[in-house]
Amino acid sequence: MAKITYVEHNGHATTVDVPDGWSLMQAAVTNAIPGIVGECGGSRACATCHCYIDEARLGDLPAPEEGELAMLDMAAAEVRPASRLSCQIKASPALDGLVVHLPETQG
Ligand code: FES
Repeated sequence: MAKITYVEHNGHATTVDVPDGWSLMQAAVTNAIPGIVGECGGSRACATCHCYIDEARLGDLPAPEEGELAMLDMAAAEVRPASRLSCQIKASPALDGLVVHLPETQG
């Protein structure tokens, strides 16, 4: 379990408990957090789950695979060094307290 805080582009923040093994996209969609769409259901085929990870915590996450980086190129909003696909990030106690910023648009 990890407490994850999603900060929408307008600054509205929502913190949810995410069970171990759930993706950050899955938790956002389940909790109806605006700003994450997850159109492809997490199969790394849409980039509508784009998010920006708190830079100070980037090292707590496994590095993105090549396929994730390729799909990030399709993201509608600006891609930054802290950009990730939230469907590719699985919750674990190591991510407790993580803050995830959501882009202005997903498409
Ligand atoms: S939900 Fe489609 S790439 Fe993440």
